[in-house]
Amino acid sequence: MIAEFFQECVMDSAPSVVATAVLGLFMYLGFLTLTSAVSEAALPNVPKLKGYPVLGAIPIYFRDGMALLLETLTTLGEDGIAYAQVGNKTLVSVHDPVMAKEVLAFTDKIASRQEPCSYEPLFSTKLTRCRLGDPRVFSWSPFWTLTRLLDRNLFDDVGHEAMRQRGVYIREFNNPTSNVGKFEGVLRVATEHVKAIVGDADAARIGDIRHAADNFAATLWGDTLYGRSDALTDDRVMRVADEILRRAGSPWPSALYSFMLTFGLVEAGKPIPSEARIRAEIEDLYKKNVQHLENYERSNPDSPVKTIRSLSVADGGKRTGPLTILATQFARINVFGGHHSIGSNITWTLIELQKRPDVLAKLLAEIESIGEIDFTTVTTKMPYLNAIVMEINRLYPTVPATLRVIERETRLVSCKKPVVLKPGMLIYLSYLHMHTSPKYWGPTAGEFDPNRFLNGVDKSKPFMAFGSGTRDCVGYKFALLAVKVYLITLLQTYRFKVEEDNCTPKLNTLLETSGPVKVEFFRKT
Ligand code: HEM
Repeated sequence: MIAEFFQECVMDSAPSVVATAVLGLFMYLGFLTLTSAVSEAALPNVPKLKGYPVLGAIPIYFRDGMALLLETLTTLGEDGIAYAQVGNKTLVSVHDPVMAKEVLAFTDKIASRQEPCSYEPLFSTKLTRCRLGDPRVFSWSPFWTLTRLLDRNLFDDVGHEAMRQRGVYIREFNNPTSNVGKFEGVLRVATEHVKAIVGDADAARIGDIRHAADNFAATLWGDTLYGRSDALTDDRVMRVADEILRRAGSPWPSALYSFMLTFGLVEAGKPIPSEARIRAEIEDLYKKNVQHLENYERSNPDSPVKTIRSLSVADGGKRTGPLTILATQFARINVFGGHHSIGSNITWTLIELQKRPDVLAKLLAEIESIGEIDFTTVTTKMPYLNAIVMEINRLYPTVPATLRVIERETRLVSCKKPVVLKPGMLIYLSYLHMHTSPKYWGPTAGEFDPNRFLNGVDKSKPFMAFGSGTRDCVGYKFALLAVKVYLITLLQTYRFKVEEDNCTPKLNTLLETSGPVKVEFFRKT
């Protein structure tokens, strides 16, 4: 399996080259582990995952992936902090909410998502400063893989430039004035999509509601960004999105890339051939979508600008012609990042509503009571729907965890024991753990109960589905609007029955269901 992955990554290489690469990588990892095993404990007061003799946590990391290793760390000790040594990397899980908020509030001079500022090169004893893409950096960060696949974007940027970009995004997606203008489009796309589920029939069985819901999101993005509903529903988009997520969630691409950089087999910052293929597909999709936009702009010269143009104009671009870098970067992020967050919220809501007829009845009564919907009604006059969607994001946070890389030595002041975080340490923050731990949410933490959010978000409890601190989400309000409008439209039109198979969560780069979720829809009379 490992050799297959390598073959796929290094592509076109002869099997003997791949076998040598696998062997070389393991020797390299062994060397790194040995050097770290003989060094002193990275965090003396903090519980450490022992893992295997000599190899430490390496086998667990490569077998189970980053997400599961992180969840194992959350079970160690009582302090809300634990760590593992993976090769020369110290992976620290901070899963106490107060400490997690402290980490997320660090400025990007102290912690960012990039790989480390100082590192000891393999064949030298001199400590050098180096950054992302430096040939001597051995990196584990999934964001590193994302950057090679999508090119640089807001996830990597730091300092004033990042803050400026955040301002542009927030004004476009998290702002009521801007979202009210998008409402009509959201309702139109939702209505058309819901209608198409059953078509002219009275009932239909959907093989995978996740796919249908993702498809709604892709249709919506196509319409909102480029003025053409089918701009992003091309099968290639879903395939490329899945491939990006698969690679970002696997430790292998980062390990392989670091290994190749160290031995000069790939140029710093350049994607390897299989990654270059994905980038080429994204570029191709981008060019096609810009053509859709230009066609739309030519045919509708007096209509309000489409969202990708609006981002570009806010970034200093013109009302026609080439898009700015920020808008181009968003178009690339959107290929992988826009569908699952909306789709997964819709999927989990249907799963939970099926299990709780009392909650469904109360929601249907709220929907009936409001009559025709508009932006203000959906966002401010439907407290029960809002509570349901927030509770879904607590129990099933689409982004189950994030990470920060320490750039500058710092003390974790909210920890009772003295803890000093050192440059290069990877700090993992499990939103999923903090959202579902009985320690913070009581004995019913694992149960779906929208009443928890009826009076808004309780600030005394950890809720970080959209991040927290300096780099929280810049687009979730638009996403939640889309989720709510779709659910209202769907429930106004059909009764539904979710089949029980695959309705359990599976921890991956994103939190997903364990497989396809089948749903039957019956038209209401
Ligand atoms: C329900 C939907 C969504 C969820 C659950 C979600 C979740 C998150 C979370 C947890 C983070 C913080 C990650 C971290 O701390 O490292 C984040 C950041 C981000 N989100 Fe979202 N998101 C959603 C929708 C969106 C949408 C629609 C957009 C696009 C407009 C978007 C764009 C971003 C960007 C660009 C960042 C990085 C911000 C920065 O680094 O300054 N998200 N999101």
